[in-house]
Amino acid sequence: MLSDRKVFVNGKFTAWEQAGIHMMSHSFSRGSAIFEVLSVHDLPDTGPCVFRLDKHVQRLFSSASALGMVPGLSPESVEEAVCRTVRKNGIRQGAVKIMGYNPEIAFDILPSGNTLDIAVFVIDPVQDLGKRLVPTSDGADMCVSTWCKLDPRTVPIAAKAAANYLNGMLARQEAKNRGCDMAVMLDTLGFVAEGATESIFLVKEGRIMTPSLGSILHSITRSSVITLCQALDIPVDESRISPDLLETADEIFFTCTPMKVLPIKTCEQRPLSPVPGPVTQQLADLMADVTSGRNRQFGAWLFPVS
Ligand SMILES: Cc1ncc(COP(=O)(O)O)c(C=O)c1O
Repeated sequence: MLSDRKVFVNGKFTAWEQAGIHMMSHSFSRGSAIFEVLSVHDLPDTGPCVFRLDKHVQRLFSSASALGMVPGLSPESVEEAVCRTVRKNGIRQGAVKIMGYNPEIAFDILPSGNTLDIAVFVIDPVQDLGKRLVPTSDGADMCVSTWCKLDPRTVPIAAKAAANYLNGMLARQEAKNRGCDMAVMLDTLGFVAEGATESIFLVKEGRIMTPSLGSILHSITRSSVITLCQALDIPVDESRISPDLLETADEIFFTCTPMKVLPIKTCEQRPLSPVPGPVTQQLADLMADVTSGRNRQFGAWLFPVS
């Protein structure tokens, strides 16, 4: 149960119900918290491992730096905190959320301090929420949102900041209202950008295309999948993608931490068949081999917690 979980807050463990901050804190009232979501996988020989822990902690620090903030713990201490929290809660698989937040009571837009408190939460979604974090694993119905991805000239969109996520929330809400599972957003220039919390890949005639960095999050799964494509000798184009390509792609898939590779089964009601397509299946299989420990070539991506 969630209420049994212990939360790491600035070096100490506290009960789940006690892990709160004041409503007038800067991070709650202005949305200035930053965060990371990581996946935990149970490997037969090493036990629970965190996927690409180093990359997530690096991105947490990049997010802080993009926003002029400073985490109150070193990167090594944050990595250690994640491992300790997974061990403390006896989680074998599930999700970790690292939060960096400013607890200062702030009525002004600019808080007086820029040091972030650090909290680490872990959950086993099946045990604690009675469901998986991913709405569907056998394919999602996707639409193209009428909301644009935040323009990088308005906020640093590479920062994983709470306030940026109203954008994805609105896109996902629109998808739900239209009877879809997920939405992809275009950037403000009209090119394909990304989903609410997912990166997008298109496959056409054996080549993979994905939007280049600039208007999207520096996703860790995206870069891992690109590395897997290289290992499989599948060419990948990172470029500007016209939305027309969504109408003609042979395969489309989303990637993100909780589900890794999620095939899209319809795009604006156009069925993509078969689902998953052969390239999506090949990548999903290789990723599953990596996260289950069957593939050793990318074993360094998994960090044992003990
Ligand atoms: C906007 C956005 N794009 C892509 C992703 C996927 O990133 P990652 O693979 O690092 O989980 C996320 C993750 O939450 C996201 O919020």
